[in-house]
Amino acid sequence: MSKNKILITGGCGFIGSRVIARLANTQHDLFIMDNLSTGKKENVPLDRVELCVCDIRSEEAYEYIQHIQPDYVIHLAAQIDVQISIQQQQHDADINIMGTLNIIQSCLHLPALRQFVFASTAAVYGNNADLPLTEQSTTIPTSPYGQSKLVGEQYLALVTHLHGFPYAALRFANVYGTKSYAAGDVITSFWTKLKQNEAPVIFGDGEQTRDFIYVEDIACALIEAMYVSESGIYNISTNEQTSINDVLGIMGTLLQRNVLPQKLAERVGDIRDSRLANNKFVQHTSWTPAYTLQTGLYATIQHKNNKVKVEN
Ligand SMILES: NC(=O)c1ccc[n+]([C@@H]2O[C@H](COP(=O)([O-])OP(=O)(O)OC[C@H]3O[C@@H](n4cnc5c(N)ncnc54)[C@H](O)[C@@H]3O)[C@@H](O)[C@H]2O)c1
Repeated sequence: MSKNKILITGGCGFIGSRVIARLANTQHDLFIMDNLSTGKKENVPLDRVELCVCDIRSEEAYEYIQHIQPDYVIHLAAQIDVQISIQQQQHDADINIMGTLNIIQSCLHLPALRQFVFASTAAVYGNNADLPLTEQSTTIPTSPYGQSKLVGEQYLALVTHLHGFPYAALRFANVYGTKSYAAGDVITSFWTKLKQNEAPVIFGDGEQTRDFIYVEDIACALIEAMYVSESGIYNISTNEQTSINDVLGIMGTLLQRNVLPQKLAERVGDIRDSRLANNKFVQHTSWTPAYTLQTGLYATIQHKNNKVKVEN
């Protein structure tokens, strides 16, 4: 395999840092662009990567991309919080639409560019109840976050049509693993409460379902997507549906805690059920999810427990 230049925007974040950890073992030259708004420098090996601390919306981002001339771009930098997207729609659109457009425009005439990998989301399907969702399913986002990611995908389809731009947009199901910062994802929040013997919070009746995928499977998929020859959209999921109540049950068993949850009102913008068919990506690559929810949660809990011990 030849040596290439790979730029990862948002590389200091939760998913990006796991992609970097995997690519660090290859011969490729690695570059990160990150404004460190949620990501941290400590998440990546700074002796192995070149880090450009800048905003994806900036002129500096454009200049940096012209300077390094990457062969591959994995674009992860984004505003990822659904609730923030509802409260601050313009802010969300500014980063996820205008920022993404700036990165696409910066890459448009790179002679060496082989692939642009974009992190999209199952949120583009919104409350579409026709499960499992395939890449052809109707997209009806129920949040500005889902909408802004859909616009990013549409720009990619457009520049491919206009300029033959090579891309793979990956619609991730619900990603879990050790978060590098205190985010409001359900598995991190359950872990925190269960460890303290406090009641975990469930919004709604807990029977809503999600397709949970472990972060290491996502990192592998992003790397595989660099080599997908057919531009387009790919679901990245386990194609398994688990209720929030069942997630709490599995975590309670793994942590040997039996605490009743506190049930609060359903949140605006939250979807009811989600399961994504992953056969398109499986057929186009050698990727399959390596983790079940049980093994992924076990790995997550081991990792979080070790981190707490180190921090103590
Ligand atoms: N975590 C999930 O469950 C999930 C699910 C579906 C899709 N995604 C997508 O995957 C990608 C990565 O998500 P994550 O969970 O690692 O989030 P994260 O917040 O941990 O990582 C995002 C990174 O982007 C950086 N960033 C944010 N705004 C920026 C800006 N304007 N300019 C430069 N850098 C900026 C942050 O500092 C951070 O390092 C995002 O595009 C997200 O929408 C995540």
